[in-house]
Amino acid sequence: MEERIVSPVPLQGEREIENSLRPKNFAEYIGQEGVVKNLKVFIQAARERGEPLDHLLLCGPPGLGKTTLAHIVAQEMGVNLRSTSGPALERAGDLAAILTNLQPGDILFVDEIHRLPRIVEEILYPAMEDFALDIVIGKGPSARTLKLDIPAFTLVGATTREGLLTAPLRSRFGILSRLDYYKTKEIERVLERSCRVLEIEAEAEGLTRISSRSRGTPRVANRLLKRVRDVAQVEGDGIITPEIAEKALDQLEVDHLGLEGLDRKILRTIVNKFDGGPVGLGTIAAAISEETETVEDVYEPFLLQAGLLQRTPRGRIATPQAYRHLGLQVPQEGKRGLFDE
Ligand code: ADE
Repeated sequence: MEERIVSPVPLQGEREIENSLRPKNFAEYIGQEGVVKNLKVFIQAARERGEPLDHLLLCGPPGLGKTTLAHIVAQEMGVNLRSTSGPALERAGDLAAILTNLQPGDILFVDEIHRLPRIVEEILYPAMEDFALDIVIGKGPSARTLKLDIPAFTLVGATTREGLLTAPLRSRFGILSRLDYYKTKEIERVLERSCRVLEIEAEAEGLTRISSRSRGTPRVANRLLKRVRDVAQVEGDGIITPEIAEKALDQLEVDHLGLEGLDRKILRTIVNKFDGGPVGLGTIAAAISEETETVEDVYEPFLLQAGLLQRTPRGRIATPQAYRHLGLQVPQEGKRGLFDE
């Protein structure tokens, strides 16, 4: 995937800067109010009982702070966090090694948990349920299983694709938290905080302009903030004014909804090549030379949320808003797939 300024997934070398901006506890955390309120209660209750927190599944599009929340939960529980990911755990032994080395109460964070190999996932079931590992010794008729106790721990899983989780895995999570896109006002507060941390001077309206093009995603907002700061420094007096923000964002080709070249290309492809749709996701991906999974995980969620794209059983369709956004005339009823049904 090409490196794009509004990508909700981290760009090269971005993780370190992200770490410096990441809120460390609930007091510093902005947004996702419902999720945070519930988690605070569950954490306080678990602490009062002296138990580990129940297993927690964090779902939502990339860039909304699933990893950040996992770290905050560990901090608020006063435990260590061990971090890994679905694709990194290739063999059952990889997971067994991590689980046997945890301290009681620790959090194991598994990012992209929907990509866990099947054999590894099966190790996880008894581990989550009984804090035990079933180890098979030997092969064939003489094979025996040995139950090995492991420390009581909390699994925090993160996924952008809740629907891909198997039912047995999903049912073993006691807490399910779904993160949603942030409101413009919340992103403004995230930006204000980032300005304090990075010692950037900005006018409130300058930050509003950045926020409104950040797709409700803190990772995108912080990235745009840094690029706007560069323009403010080189072409202004270092202060982020609304004029500087607009100029910088225009130069970056991020439009007023926060769409960038490839997002518009997806919409234009559906409109121009497929008559507005419905068209299958694989066909769209092939037409723009991207992986189907990338289009589905990275580009599509925001286009759906912004009301520019609609999912139907027969495929994706461009909505009237998409036509308007591209500066095109909305086709009349009955002239295209969207309206024939
Ligand atoms: N930086 C990134 N996400 C944040 C959030 N939710 N609250 C505060 N700062 C953030």
